[in-house]
Amino acid sequence: MWNILLVDADPEIHAHAKLMLQPDFSLVSCYTGTEAIESLNQERPDLILCETSLPDMNGLDIMRNIAFQAGRTAFIATSQSGNTHRVVDAIKAGADEYLVKPCEADDILTTVRKCLTLKAALPYPKGATAARARINTRRLLAGESSAMVNLRRQIRAYADTDSTILITGESGTGKDLVAREMHGLSPRSEGPFYAVNCGALPETLFESEMFGSEKGAYTDAVARSGFFEDADGGTLFLDEVGELSPPLQVKLLRALEDRQVIHLGSHRPIAVDTRIIAATNRNIYADVDSGRFRSDLFYRLNVLRIRTPSLRDRKEDIPLLCYIFLQEFYEGNTVSPRAKQRTGRAPVKHFCDAAIRKLAGHSWPGNIRELKNIVQRALFLCEGDRVGPEHIELE
Ligand SMILES: Nc1ncnc2c1ncn2[C@@H]1O[C@H](COP(=O)(O)OP(=O)(O)O)[C@@H](O)[C@H]1O
Ligand SMILES: [Mg+2]
Repeated sequence: MWNILLVDADPEIHAHAKLMLQPDFSLVSCYTGTEAIESLNQERPDLILCETSLPDMNGLDIMRNIAFQAGRTAFIATSQSGNTHRVVDAIKAGADEYLVKPCEADDILTTVRKCLTLKAALPYPKGATAARARINTRRLLAGESSAMVNLRRQIRAYADTDSTILITGESGTGKDLVAREMHGLSPRSEGPFYAVNCGALPETLFESEMFGSEKGAYTDAVARSGFFEDADGGTLFLDEVGELSPPLQVKLLRALEDRQVIHLGSHRPIAVDTRIIAATNRNIYADVDSGRFRSDLFYRLNVLRIRTPSLRDRKEDIPLLCYIFLQEFYEGNTVSPRAKQRTGRAPVKHFCDAAIRKLAGHSWPGNIRELKNIVQRALFLCEGDRVGPEHIELE
């Protein structure tokens, strides 16, 4: 999961960010520049979302402070003012993006995702040891239903091989986690893990991002390696592979068949030893039947297959998941101790039966992602130590 550091003096911004970002990102909250720098000394986030005018300093100074890390940590500057000079200052100082407040939730999410996708050249987990990755992913892929026990057994069995795997399953069922766990348990766990969202990668960038480029291959092209090469000795996770257009499917197929890549603007093939895990939430079998997805690429990817179970088929896991999200919300590293003090709330201790029954009655089209969202919102709404059905807002 990506780590985001939010620096802003306004508590309301933190409350919104929590609702919006925390389901998918791990969020650390700081209210002053000093706090932020302290926090940065402890842990390096993947992205910093920072107000430029802070009570104790100019937010851009935080970025200058971590400039030596530029390229690894994405920086989005926010400000009340869209004044050109301020925007130019921020970009000159190295900010990746600039958002003028008040911003729409959608804008923030799109910008955050865009920055992270462009920074996706970060191995997972950044700086952490493989052992820690294993513990993290194991803890994240929770569930004691027979469907989950089987899934974990399948992951362990497949982790040892180098075969390509296709993970199918509805959105929010944990396909990402499965891929990460598979890498963490594999003999490649010391190697890099790269995740590429094929649906978010612009068509024109696909080749250079995946296979690399030579200087001058196109306007502004620099010499660089692509994801296939970067993940050499490790795992490349091709998420949303069903979204690739037919011409890109051909290019991907060629790389998989030849086990080599050619930089854009070059003729020299480079051999790569990269394990491929692909995932899609589309009905890819139907796409193959209709000719939307090439059958030769499908057979290349579908050597081993894993299907992540939908939450409605394993509702017995709901109470356990609720408590895991509860623990993450209060005891995880997602909220800094200071921010916790600030919220001034008694931590919720339990979910009453009626609340669990209400959750169990829902059909969960958004699966675990939706459950996590709803639980976090309930914890946010709940002032006492017991979550009741009145705190659960189903969509
Ligand atoms: N078995 C699980 N236990 C705990 N959290 C899970 C589990 N499966 C998914 N999640 C959480 O649900 C959210 C969606 O998971 P993700 O892997 O991104 O789903 P997908 O890739 O299938 O859309 C993430 O926040 C993830 O941490
Ligand atoms: Mg996913």
